[in-house]
Amino acid sequence: MSNAPFADRLKNMSGNVIREILKLIQQPDMISFGGGMPSADAFPMAEVKEIMAEITSTLDTSILQYSSSEGYVPLREFLCHWLKKKGINVTLDEVLIISGSQQGIDLTAKAFLNVSDKVIVENPTYLAALQIFKTYEAQFAIAQVDEEGININSLKEALEKDTDRNKLIYLVPTFQNPTGLTMSKERRQQVMELVKNYDITVVEDDPYGSLNYTDEEIPALKAFDKTGQVIYLGSFSKIISPGLRVGYVVASKEIINKLVIGKQATDVHTSNLSQVIVYEFCKRGLLEPHIDKIRVAYKEKRDLMLKYMTEYFPKEINWTIPAGGLFIWAELPAGVSSVDLLKEAIKEKVAFIPGNSFFASGGGENTMRLNFSNASHEEIKVGIEKLGRVVSKFLEVK
Ligand SMILES: Cc1ncc(COP(=O)(O)O)c(C=O)c1O
Repeated sequence: MSNAPFADRLKNMSGNVIREILKLIQQPDMISFGGGMPSADAFPMAEVKEIMAEITSTLDTSILQYSSSEGYVPLREFLCHWLKKKGINVTLDEVLIISGSQQGIDLTAKAFLNVSDKVIVENPTYLAALQIFKTYEAQFAIAQVDEEGININSLKEALEKDTDRNKLIYLVPTFQNPTGLTMSKERRQQVMELVKNYDITVVEDDPYGSLNYTDEEIPALKAFDKTGQVIYLGSFSKIISPGLRVGYVVASKEIINKLVIGKQATDVHTSNLSQVIVYEFCKRGLLEPHIDKIRVAYKEKRDLMLKYMTEYFPKEINWTIPAGGLFIWAELPAGVSSVDLLKEAIKEKVAFIPGNSFFASGGGENTMRLNFSNASHEEIKVGIEKLGRVVSKFLEVK
């Protein structure tokens, strides 16, 4: 049927730009620093195979049956215990298992946003969150970021404008996607002070918090939350597997109850099989050693990429040095388009994500995001050398 009567809210929506680029660069000899994917060799294949074999041999009907929307109780209990390490103290009814933290953003938007409500976002921020908020016909208020995370004056300005319409602050405070930057502890305290004073709800999206390449413990924003105003989203995607689609929300019981209503409509509950696999992995004490292993591997890759960028990139380019997570954020000279640069890079079989789509209200045309987790050491070397050559030539021509 042509001219299908789609809802108005989809009129100005396009698909996820990153997914489109990833399709475009899916060629066997392409070196991609594009997607935010874990490395396939970082998946705990042997352990998961063993767990699955045991689950299969002891299978009873419960795993095939519908189950509770809140999630598998032993996994929620494990999280109550595990999250203490991040300074988060919660009870069972404050934890909801979701199908990836992405679903947590969606359920929160569903529960909180009326048409034209405002979400305060970092500039830049996670592209898919922007898309979700747009689907609920929300608008954005922008707060700038600096080396220590969201800028307090900028956040205050956003909070003071349109106070009636400001509904949520969405933050990725730790090893942010796309910039790799982390909010300092002092900044976290200042943010929470504002959150309390302005009586607003914060979404703390934290899929990367465990991928810390330093010895410094970083407390979650949620650890400073005495008033139940932070909705914390966690995920097993980057530390076990994204394909299992298991994440979690930690929030006040009142908020969890509302999110559960939304989840019942969306998918009833997260896959029993996935939840049991994740729980067995955690129960057997495999999670921490596995995180340690991938932290070492990803830190090595981060260091390699930084080393080759220093070696091969022209001096006019600046970039962040992320203390964790999966991304390096680079800035070309003002007026240089990273979308145009990508076209040249693709010809040389190397790819990255142009940064402009991470900005809620335009800008960032001269920025780019580089993922260092997915490529091999050799690909990082060859890819960054190629990209360095492409950029140098591109800047000469400009
Ligand atoms: C900031 C951020 N939030 C959420 C997600 C979604 O993760 P999940 O696989 O847990 O849905 C990602 C994935 O890349 C992300 O970067």
